[in-house]
Amino acid sequence: MMVLGCSASNGIEADLARELGTEAAKVETTRFPDGEIKVMVPDTGDNDVVVVQSTCAPQEKNIIELLFAADVLRGRKARVTAVVPYLAYARQNKSFRPGEAVSVDVVLEMMHAAGIDRLVTVNPHKVDALSRFKGALGLVDSEKRLAGSIKGRLRNPLVFAPDHGSLDMARNAAATLGCSYTYIDKRRDADGSVSITGTHGGDFKGKDVIIFDDIISTGGTIVQAAGFAYGEGAASVSAAGIHLVMADGAMERLRSAGIEKVFGTNTIPCDKAEIVNVSPDIAECIRRL
Ligand code: R5P
Repeated sequence: MMVLGCSASNGIEADLARELGTEAAKVETTRFPDGEIKVMVPDTGDNDVVVVQSTCAPQEKNIIELLFAADVLRGRKARVTAVVPYLAYARQNKSFRPGEAVSVDVVLEMMHAAGIDRLVTVNPHKVDALSRFKGALGLVDSEKRLAGSIKGRLRNPLVFAPDHGSLDMARNAAATLGCSYTYIDKRRDADGSVSITGTHGGDFKGKDVIIFDDIISTGGTIVQAAGFAYGEGAASVSAAGIHLVMADGAMERLRSAGIEKVFGTNTIPCDKAEIVNVSPDIAECIRRL
């Protein structure tokens, strides 16, 4: 087995190679004068190749680069396992309004068509949304590792899920931190704004609240949840996201909402938070596959 890293692998290929006891190499990506990309995949002679590429921004370029690399490997008759630590477009898993493309379906179809036999990804937004992928799937849950990296950092923690979708993650994180958890319900309006639609108890008074979510993008979800937690008497509020997408202005929004610390993983490069390396979880998933 050989591990290859594309340009947005964030160094995970080197960790995986170490974990799996094999070698790592880089896919070489350059640009033509008109902006199109050119991908060169080193030929190592291996017929079992793991190729790592996060599909964070710039999403389209990173997806295309992965597809091009997979196609080269398919041409060499290799079995291709794509490790996509952050899977872009996973949130557009249905037509929320008539005429909207179900983007994740298209991305998964393209990946399989390009020659990806097995897809490994970390905490996808909705597992069901991956069912359209026609190859084998490896799903990595890294909330326990993320929670483990926070353990001991908060005096009197309470885990808080900012919507029902993050409840399982919050439950697992709370088990790791040895504390209780609660959640709220949220609604996202067509203009992207977030509002709270329901609450489910929990004693916030004097607690060091840690909000757990799969993705922090604009920060809008965390801001609403933090306002609620402080309103209920929290001593401090911090945020933990598996995928720190961090759209423009997100960190400033979090700071203005009183978020003290931001924790995340290396599925997306981010230099504004405390980061834990999830490569061991990915390696374990590949071994299981
Ligand atoms: C949505 O349901 C996800 O779990 C996240 O809550 C959401 O993607 C976060 O996005 P933002 O930071 O823009 O509110």
